[in-house]
Amino acid sequence: MGRAESSCSWLYNCVCIVIVSYLGLSSPLAGKEVWAYEEVREGAHMFWWLYTADTDSQNRPLVMWLQGGPGGSGSGFGNFEEIGPLNRDLEPRKTSWVQAASVLFVDNPVGTGFSYTDRPDGYATDVATVASDMLVLLQHFFKKMSEFQSNPFYIFSESYGGKMAAAISLELTKVNVTSLFNFPFSSILIIDKTSASSTDSVMTWGPYLYTTSLLDDYGLADVSSAAEAVKQAVEQQQFQKATELWSVAETVVEQNTNGVNFYNILTQDSDEKRTSVAGDFIALQTHRHIRPLHSQSLSELMNGPIRKKLGIIPQNVTWGGQADNVFSYMAGDFMRPVVDIVDQLLTAGVNVTIYNGQLDLIVDTIGQELWVKKLKWEGLPGFNKLRWTPVDDPTSPGVTGAFCKTYKNFSFYWILKAGHMIPSDQGPMALQMLKMITQQD
Ligand SMILES: *[C@@H]1O[C@H](CO)[C@@H](O)[C@H](O)[C@H]1NC(C)=O
Ligand SMILES: *[C@@H]1O[C@H](CO)[C@@H](O)[C@H](O)[C@H]1NC(C)=O
Ligand SMILES: *[C@@H]1O[C@H](CO)[C@@H](O)[C@H](O)[C@H]1NC(C)=O
Ligand SMILES: *[C@@H]1O[C@H](CO)[C@@H](O)[C@H](O)[C@H]1NC(C)=O
Repeated sequence: MGRAESSCSWLYNCVCIVIVSYLGLSSPLAGKEVWAYEEVREGAHMFWWLYTADTDSQNRPLVMWLQGGPGGSGSGFGNFEEIGPLNRDLEPRKTSWVQAASVLFVDNPVGTGFSYTDRPDGYATDVATVASDMLVLLQHFFKKMSEFQSNPFYIFSESYGGKMAAAISLELTKVNVTSLFNFPFSSILIIDKTSASSTDSVMTWGPYLYTTSLLDDYGLADVSSAAEAVKQAVEQQQFQKATELWSVAETVVEQNTNGVNFYNILTQDSDEKRTSVAGDFIALQTHRHIRPLHSQSLSELMNGPIRKKLGIIPQNVTWGGQADNVFSYMAGDFMRPVVDIVDQLLTAGVNVTIYNGQLDLIVDTIGQELWVKKLKWEGLPGFNKLRWTPVDDPTSPGVTGAFCKTYKNFSFYWILKAGHMIPSDQGPMALQMLKMITQQD
C-alpha cells in the first residue's frame, strides 16, 4: 500500500484532521475522505471517518452510519463489510453508498472501534450519554466540515445503533440545531432498524422459528418460556436481569435449533462458536454479538494497513480493544425499550423509517410489527390502513426485492432475502432503499 498523501491542515482541540484526496491504494476513490478524533468528554475520544460522495457531493445528502452492538464499529464493519467504497480486500464495492451520499462513520459509543477512553468512567452507561456525546461530536464535525451544514442530514443505523439513533435524534430535536445545520430540522430523518423493543423480538422468536421449521413442539415450548422470563423482568424494570435472561433465551434457541445464526436464519453457527465460551453472561453476550463484528480478518485489516494509513491512532489504542467494555457498561440499557422515543420523534416532525430483513432472527419482523403497533403517534391508524407496495430488486427487474409503505413521516421497508446485516446480504437493494429514502430515485 502506498503512502497516503495527507496534510494535517489544521489543529482543533489538539486533534489532527487529515484530508486525503488520493490514497495511493490500488483503487483510488473518486471522492475525498477525511477523518479525525474529537474529545467529547475529558479523556473520552471519538473517531469519525467521512467519505464524500463520488460525484456532486454539494447536492448529495450526508448520511451518518451507526453500527450496533453496542460496541460494533462503523469505521470497520459498516465501512469495509457493508456500505463503504472498499470491501475488506480493499477492492471497490459495487454497491457502495458513496455513490449516492457522503457517508460519515462514527465509532460510537466511546470505546468502540478506534474510539477510546483513557479512564473507566469514560464509557457510556446509557443512551442518554451516548446521545450527548454524539451531540458534542456533531458540533465539532460541522464546525470543521462546514460545507456539509447545508446538506440534508440522515442518520442510518443497524441493530442497537437504531436505539442510539433514536436517542440522538431526540437530543437533536431539543437543541437549537440552526447552530449545527442550515436546514430546517424536520428534514432530518432517522433510519432505524432498531431493537426499539427487545421484548417484542424475544417473544416472537419461538413462533418465527417454529413456522420456518427450526423448532419442534418441545423447542417451541422451551423458547417461549425462556422468552416469558425476559418479558417479566422487563415489566418489572429489571433491565440488567432482563439482559441476562435474554442471553439464557439465546442459549435455549441455540440448543433447540442446533445453532441457528441469529443474524440470518438460513445459516448456522459452527459448534466451536457455540461452545467455546464459558463464564458470565457478559462474556457470552460479547462473544455472540460483538465478536462477529470483529472477525480476525477485519481486525487484521483495521489494526494493520488501515491504522497505518490513518496515522492518528495513538500507540496504545487498538481497533476493537475496548469493545467488550462498551457492551458491558451498556448492559443495563440493552433491554430498555425506546418506543416512546420514536413517538416523540414522530410528534416532533422527524421522518422515521424502519427497515427489516426477512431472515433476521435477533430483530425479527414479527417483533418489529408488534412494537410499531404500540406507537401512540396520531398517524398510526392511517399507516395501518395503507397496503404495502412491492419494490423491484434493482438487479432483477420483475423480481420483488422489498415491500415498502409510507404514511406522513413514517415508513417501513421489508427487505427480502436479507438477514440482520441488510447491506451485506442484499447490497443492491440496500443501495436502492438509500436512494428512495433520500429521494434520489
Ligand atoms: C495510553 O497511554 C497513556 C499514557 O501512558 C495513558 O494515559 C492512557 O490511559 C492510555 N490509553 C489507553 C486507551 O490505554
Ligand atoms: C440558534 O442558533 C443560531 C445560530 O447560532 C442563532 O442565530 C439563533 O439566534 C439561535 N436561536 C435561538 C432560539 O437561540
Ligand atoms: C419526510 O417525509 C415526508 C413525507 O413522506 C416527505 O415529504 C419529506 O420529503 C421527507 N423529508 C426528507 C428529508 O426525506
Ligand atoms: C411530519 O410531522 C409533523 C408533526 O406531526 C407534521 O406537522 C407534518 O405535516 C408531517 N409531515 C408530513 C409530510 O406529513
